[in-house]
Amino acid sequence: MTPAQFIAGLPKAELHMHIEGSIEPALFIALAKRNNVPIAWKTEAELREAYSFRNLQSFLDLYYDGCRVLVHAADFQDVTREYLMRAHADRVLHAELFLGPQGHTARGVALGTVLEGTFAAMDAARREDGITSGLILLAQRHRSEEEALALLDAARPWADRLLGFGLGGAEVGNPPSKFVEFFRRCRERGFKVVAHAGEEGPAAYVREAIELLHVQRIDHGNSSLDDAALLRVLAQRQVPLTVCPLSNLKLKVVASMDVHPLKRLMDAGLCVTVNSDDPSFFGGYVNDNYIACQAALGLSRQALVALARNSFIAAFMPAAQRDAAL
Ligand code: HPA
Ligand code: ZN
Repeated sequence: MTPAQFIAGLPKAELHMHIEGSIEPALFIALAKRNNVPIAWKTEAELREAYSFRNLQSFLDLYYDGCRVLVHAADFQDVTREYLMRAHADRVLHAELFLGPQGHTARGVALGTVLEGTFAAMDAARREDGITSGLILLAQRHRSEEEALALLDAARPWADRLLGFGLGGAEVGNPPSKFVEFFRRCRERGFKVVAHAGEEGPAAYVREAIELLHVQRIDHGNSSLDDAALLRVLAQRQVPLTVCPLSNLKLKVVASMDVHPLKRLMDAGLCVTVNSDDPSFFGGYVNDNYIACQAALGLSRQALVALARNSFIAAFMPAAQRDAAL
């Protein structure tokens, strides 16, 4: 059995994937046509060529601009359903999806439109493929804490259907400490909380996310390796990291896969998981990420099994479902 076959057969959960980052070029062009949204690219090949990034911000510029093709509930439904089908094909049993409503409401798309379309696809995926999923809303960290609090309030009618809240977007210069009150209220209302930290930002941001925001997972967390004391805290408390190897390569967080910190983080005793982040932009879905790491870092089958197990341990899923998957 090849490593790719072994990886394909492993049941797994995916915990770090942005719905807006999963619009494949073909669907992107179809949505632009359907909604009469002018775009700068005519073909799938032209789009793929544009997916070359210097850093996180150069990606975010394209990503936020691309969101313009999402207008109606059916658009959010199509994107989410397509992702969940691909995830199901990768033997993902459970997915926790990120969505950034501010990028849509700021363009005049109602929050209800965004959420109802997304939930419809999540329901269909569960019914048709048996894949379970939860939705985590991200506040954009370049925006103010007041705007994040407004998002939390606006989401009240859907509180029972939402898994939690997180923090995404331009990291450097927008530390977790900017959002202490927002996270306090999210926790007070019973939501799960996560934050992107330590992708381009320093280890100090990871520490802030844990100590000031009290997050239950760190999204990325690569720079934790720069702080031995922080690593010990993450290992001791088993705070999971949702690592995204191909994203890190595409956004030049790492120079090449063979120097990716995944294995060093595992060796330090952390609960590490593998995820795709923005699969259509970064060249692969979750299995592609496992395969790239296995090839570059020489991961053993035991290490691959540990990563897949960690994804269920780190998931916000009912204990009975987790036990059945482990
Ligand atoms: N980092 C921060 N924000 C994001 C990302 C990312 O990798 N992808 C989509 N939003
Ligand atoms: Zn992300």
